Amino acid sequence: MADAAEMTKPSTAAAPRPGEQTMQVRLRALVWEAPGVLSLELTAPDGSALPPFEPGAHIDVKLPDGTLRQYSLCGDPNDTSHYRLGIRAISGGASSSYVHRKLRPGDLITVSTPRNNFPLVDAKHYIFVAGGIGVTPFIPMMREASAKSRSWTLLYCNKRNEDAPFLNEIRQLGGEISLHSSEAGTRLDVAQRLTAVEKDAVVYCCGPESLMTAVEEATGAWPEGTVHFEWFAPRSRPADETSGAFEVVCERSGLTLSVPPEKSILEVLGDAGIEVPRSCEQGICGTCEVRVISGDVDHRDSILSSSERAANATMMTCVSRAKGARLVLDI
Ligand code: FES
Repeated sequence: MADAAEMTKPSTAAAPRPGEQTMQVRLRALVWEAPGVLSLELTAPDGSALPPFEPGAHIDVKLPDGTLRQYSLCGDPNDTSHYRLGIRAISGGASSSYVHRKLRPGDLITVSTPRNNFPLVDAKHYIFVAGGIGVTPFIPMMREASAKSRSWTLLYCNKRNEDAPFLNEIRQLGGEISLHSSEAGTRLDVAQRLTAVEKDAVVYCCGPESLMTAVEEATGAWPEGTVHFEWFAPRSRPADETSGAFEVVCERSGLTLSVPPEKSILEVLGDAGIEVPRSCEQGICGTCEVRVISGDVDHRDSILSSSERAANATMMTCVSRAKGARLVLDI
């Protein structure tokens, strides 16, 4: 939006895609949502409206100490006077530690414009499977589903039910909530709950890797496009995975580059002066996605679905590589 907070230009000459521009925002408030979980309210420094976002969207947050992380927007998409994020303090997590220990109302931070890798598809019924702070992208989704008179069930997994972030707010949103607590011995039996395909339902999952893989395995028989995941950390890779050398042909730039085993495509492109936007560099945000013209991609990201991987139309240049000797990319 033209009246949004002060913008800086992205590094490419092409029109910026969602999430490629950055802006300064001011921290308006910090609120305790649960033990170890703070919500942050961010506004434009001049009070103007922020760029709009859809349920499921995230922003990159660059903190004053230089750390960069992606957080889901968990406020109301109909209210762009501010963004809201939910951040759990994680032991050893540089960003969350900085937010909890140092960030205070009035501070300015740099964020990206919203980007959505986790859009809410239309469905008659939604099953949201959340592990702890993984509930954040679902709050706007549940709000929208209720506004469209769609039913939803939240399977909400926490160590203790009383520590479930945003629970009181979610209870006002009008769906069915099923609480699961490892400490109370009511852990979610994912296989039992999700193995049977439910007609007209879609599944969304966000949480720790153990929950994500359990849902992935349980829903193997669900139709393509009915199960959706958002990874906050890259999924584990095989311990014996190797990376070979290959060539990348940059169709638009007219360059052919060698990618050695120890470097990513993104790094090699940067060394050659071809700037591709980047953020997480872990295959979880989608910022470095480029179009593939030819060649088989060894997809190593945590974003693309199995059908998107099979289509071989795009790739994440920060982690994915070539299966063969050569890739031709639209850059
Ligand atoms: Fe985030 Fe590549 S920079 S997926």
